[in-house]
Amino acid sequence: MKKFPKGFLWGSATSSYQVEGGIDNCDWSKEFPAGRACDHYHLYEKDFDLVEELNQNVHRFSIEWSRIEPEKGRFDEEEIEHYREVLKSLDRRGIKTMVTLHHFTNPQWVADEGGWKNRKVVDYFVRYSKKMISELDDLVDFWVTINEPFVIASGWHIWANWPPQERNLLSFVRVVLNQIRAHNRIYGETDQMGIVKNNSYLEPLSNSWLDKLTTKIAHYFVNEYFLNRVEFDFIGLNYYFHARIKFPGKQDNENKVVSDLGWEIYPEGIYHVLKDLDKYGKPIYITENGLADKNDDLRKRFIKNHLLWTHRAIEEGVDVRGYLHWSLMDNFEWAEGFEPRFGLIEIDYETLERKVRDSARYYSQIAKNNAVA
Ligand code: FCB
Repeated sequence: MKKFPKGFLWGSATSSYQVEGGIDNCDWSKEFPAGRACDHYHLYEKDFDLVEELNQNVHRFSIEWSRIEPEKGRFDEEEIEHYREVLKSLDRRGIKTMVTLHHFTNPQWVADEGGWKNRKVVDYFVRYSKKMISELDDLVDFWVTINEPFVIASGWHIWANWPPQERNLLSFVRVVLNQIRAHNRIYGETDQMGIVKNNSYLEPLSNSWLDKLTTKIAHYFVNEYFLNRVEFDFIGLNYYFHARIKFPGKQDNENKVVSDLGWEIYPEGIYHVLKDLDKYGKPIYITENGLADKNDDLRKRFIKNHLLWTHRAIEEGVDVRGYLHWSLMDNFEWAEGFEPRFGLIEIDYETLERKVRDSARYYSQIAKNNAVA
């Protein structure tokens, strides 16, 4: 039995566009419609019954900016009230709350003004964020400004597979600088303000100085650049990837165990990433970690092994305070649509029926015992 520290938080995460349904006024709505998704917007009580039943004591979700501010400068009080109700529903169950202010989506009017490459968006996002904090802070335990800033900036302007699909390196740089500005202006508005960063474990493929140097440079940009420029009360870590780096950056990912999306499963990587984050001297919450696994063949082992490596990092002194699995339920996986199944809970998109997967029961025992066997 590997015991976790007393008070360790166990939970799962979602984001608005991926689960709520009925979001028709954001930058994804036209080209990548999510339809009614899981209809979590209406079924959240039912979903939180399951969260409680599964012994989870923290839940992470995001507020949909396009609902709150459907037009520039007009805040929708009813939607604010909706999220108040969502938070109260978790509170009644004694479940701690972690709220993300930006999880990949923008109101359409923000996109129409050029999105995050436009410096004005910093003001808009700060205004919306301050408003949310002033309205909801009494019910929120942990705030997150932006989910995976580099990933969304790359989706917009480097891989350009996400709206507005505008490949442009300069835009990418401007977005990242604006994300840093926005985050730092919001930091300090409340006492638990974090950033969620996806850090990957990168290692050189060979011992050659060239591969090592390439790895160092990649590590600096991928893992450190953003964190070195922002202030935070805690780090939210999303851990998904490991890569062996070969100059000039080609990655070797042969003969690995992979998820339904072909993503390599490499639990040891979470240990190295946590050890590296220790240098920031702040508490760490694992805010996402999970896999697409439709038949639930690999999820139990995935959870167990990632937790064993996390436990080892904790034993060695890293201040990890919680683990939130991605995701509570199957959902809309961005450009990949509804096919990948990341949920602890299976969704039947025809009937909207929720079915608890075996791995969710397994995870629930871990949460209950505060230990991994
Ligand atoms: C992360 C995103 C999350 C989900 C998972 C699979 O990068 O934060 O919304 O799509 O990947």
